[in-house]
Amino acid sequence: MHASENVRPVYLDPSQPIDKRVEDLLGRMTIEEKIGQLCQYSGFTSEYERMIIEGRIGSLLNVFGAKETNRIQKIAVEKTRLGIPLIFGLDVLHGYKTIFPIPLGLASTWDPDAVKKAASISAAEAAAEGIRWTFAPMVDIARDPRWGRIAEGAGEDPYLGSVMAKALVEGFQGDFSGLNVVACPKHYVAYGGAEGGRDYNTVDISERTLREVYLPPFKAAVEAGAGTVMSAFNDLNGIPASANPFTLRTILRGEWGFEGFVVSDWNAIGELINHGVAGDIFEAAEKALKAGVDMDMQGDVYRRALLQLVKDGRVSEDMINEAVRRILKIKFKIGLFEHPYVDVEYAKRIVKCKEHVEAALEIARKSIVLLKNDGAVLPLSKNIESIAVIGPLADDREAPLGPWSCLGDPRDIVTVLEGIKSRVSSETRILYAKGCDVDGLSTEGFKEAVEAAKKCKVAIVVVGESRDMSGEAACRAFLNLPGVQEELVKAVYETGVTTVEVLMNGRPLSIQWSADHIPAIVEAWFPGIQAGYAIADILFGNYNPGGKLPVTFPRTVGQVPIYYNHKNTGRPPSSDRWTSKYLDIPYTPLFPFGHGLSYTKFEYSELDISPREVTSPKDAIKIKLKVKNVGHLEGDEIVQLYINDPVASVTRPVKELKGFKRITLKPGEERIVEFTLTLEMLSFLNHEMKRVVEPGLFKVMVGSSSEDIRLTGTFTVKNLVEFP
Ligand code: BGC
Repeated sequence: MHASENVRPVYLDPSQPIDKRVEDLLGRMTIEEKIGQLCQYSGFTSEYERMIIEGRIGSLLNVFGAKETNRIQKIAVEKTRLGIPLIFGLDVLHGYKTIFPIPLGLASTWDPDAVKKAASISAAEAAAEGIRWTFAPMVDIARDPRWGRIAEGAGEDPYLGSVMAKALVEGFQGDFSGLNVVACPKHYVAYGGAEGGRDYNTVDISERTLREVYLPPFKAAVEAGAGTVMSAFNDLNGIPASANPFTLRTILRGEWGFEGFVVSDWNAIGELINHGVAGDIFEAAEKALKAGVDMDMQGDVYRRALLQLVKDGRVSEDMINEAVRRILKIKFKIGLFEHPYVDVEYAKRIVKCKEHVEAALEIARKSIVLLKNDGAVLPLSKNIESIAVIGPLADDREAPLGPWSCLGDPRDIVTVLEGIKSRVSSETRILYAKGCDVDGLSTEGFKEAVEAAKKCKVAIVVVGESRDMSGEAACRAFLNLPGVQEELVKAVYETGVTTVEVLMNGRPLSIQWSADHIPAIVEAWFPGIQAGYAIADILFGNYNPGGKLPVTFPRTVGQVPIYYNHKNTGRPPSSDRWTSKYLDIPYTPLFPFGHGLSYTKFEYSELDISPREVTSPKDAIKIKLKVKNVGHLEGDEIVQLYINDPVASVTRPVKELKGFKRITLKPGEERIVEFTLTLEMLSFLNHEMKRVVEPGLFKVMVGSSSEDIRLTGTFTVKNLVEFP
């Protein structure tokens, strides 16, 4: 019997199981069309149009707008032999058009629900305009603030990083029905470990560090169902991440059972030649595909090399099929075949709608960290007589968007000056002076700034980095305030006026002078489109700050890398000279991981650990304590649980975060906070690289930051527990 022309092919029948549809489609594809699915290009040109028609492109990135995605999709669906839709990808990291705080700021909320909400709104806006795939979350652990991409991730801690990774993946993807985007945790893996904090640089770390520090957020993202993963630019212990079968096949697919597809970072396959592990594009393509990179982002290497490699027998068609299957599966899963186009009118209605903008304000407020507040300078009175608003970022419309702000529009930014104006009484006199540029050496504007400060009751100085000073290829050898900004802060301070410093930046800055002199310092990161309102709400107490640092602030760049979960060493630093420290700087950080103040005070009590003796591998340890708001204002506290395994077969960090909760308490209100520690959470890789919990004592530390530990206790594990 002949299949009738009118019978709908299996792959176009949504009632069929996805696997069956994939196989049916695969069976109809030529080798050229298969290779086409593995190729992704940026933008849209007439050349790409021709290639799409020939079935040689599976995905495009950096195509903007609902009309444009529809127009191009129509070519793929209607003008190609099999009508396979394209999947459009974009870097939607912390907003599509409604821009939220940068990921480092999102992590400062320590609030996975808020972060999930930011991701789901971003996804809804992107999907409404035809973008069904985001190159996010960026889940690279970053222990070196010189590395500009620290701004794009959740900071230095694997546990906080994992919680954020999960929240972001869930927020972006939802359940794949409706308006969401496929997540792509990146950059797999250890990209943040670049030597010297210099982008694209070599990474040489032990397998233990890889598994215990850099991999956990990726694992969390995969467990949360991330549909794709991006392989990184960097060389990892001699094998570039985009040609690394150990990380891509053994760990990602083998150990974690990842079923989605892997896309290379931008031309990372082509760069295998520069790395010196491939002599030409053929070797590069062969290595990348065999290692498990399914899609070539912008490198044009797979298109040029794979067909020849198949003809030469160096790559089997089966191996190509495997990659194509993974990609088609995602396209089916998100319903692209059924719904290749978007509703342009609907997109207009939801993008930057009121509800989204309100969420941007709420989440920006949550992300702001009060670093210092001596003498309760903050909050300021809304009826204050006069304020000098000073600094290069005080009325800046670019910086608050951050380095990777997708389609964020500077015209949507509420500047700090505008925010302050909106929050004070109509009687308050506001003087504004820029003072200087973010970068550059001119101090010409100082005079005006100093004059303004002298005429006012308080000076708010807004300083930091411009948006292009962090992010990709934006590493810094110095971590101080760029240009003459510190001199500006000093000049204002020296007028004697009460000075408040507001920071906007994409990384920890070494602001020792400010920390020593300025009574109140607010870390706002790059807060997104509602920046000015969010910051003003903090300054005037409409919102009580509750964010905490997801990363350590060094006193000087010379202390880097400095992170809270370090090892003890044989000579832990002390006042004794012959211990592990520098001669010319204290060994402590400027502000520790987990630090952040509030306008109220919280008291911790009644730590209860149960059981105190753990006998069965199935036991979970319950940790309870009471937190009370003993101040006069409602506020948020982020209760942090750390553990330490003081004696083990291998050295262990002095502290490891294992739980946290952000709670809101009214004045006088108290709450029991509970944590559950499973044995797996205590496990580590022993001297034989086996995952175990070794018998012995564990210390429990609960507090308000990694250095502000309020309650301590212990429990004992009785028997060795091994994990597969
Ligand atoms: C970056 C990735 C990004 C990609 C696509 C690369 O340069 O490293 O993080 O997803 O470009 O824009």
